[in-house]
Amino acid sequence: MQVLVWEERFSVGIREFDQHHKILFEMINSLIFAQEDGRDPDIIKNSLEQLRSYTIFHFVAEEAMMKHFEFEGLDEHIAEHETLLQQVVEYQDRIAANDGVTIDEVLNFLAGWLLDHTLGLDQLYGPYLTRFTD
Ligand SMILES: [Fe+2]
Repeated sequence: MQVLVWEERFSVGIREFDQHHKILFEMINSLIFAQEDGRDPDIIKNSLEQLRSYTIFHFVAEEAMMKHFEFEGLDEHIAEHETLLQQVVEYQDRIAANDGVTIDEVLNFLAGWLLDHTLGLDQLYGPYLTRFTD
């Protein structure tokens, strides 16, 4: 599976959130390497849980800033965040239940989601929020 490489087009214009996104890229890449190296499934499950925790931290920070500056796309943005978190929990449940879902499938989903979201909805708050933060 291809690792995620940060490019300037992923920037949302807010340094704090770019930093968060870069960390999320690295966490997914670490999981890709761990999977390719055939690491212990328990370690991979733990890393996935750490990724989920960091994602929650990041979403809370984004949502708080959007709310603070009354960004009109907040509700739509929160909905997309919540859907992702539910999907991650579903994947974790399926992994725990050994229902045949592969880590590759989960990582492909997560990587795709992160790229789509960072290039999609996250790009909408940047031009708005930077008016207040610069
Ligand atoms: Fe977001």
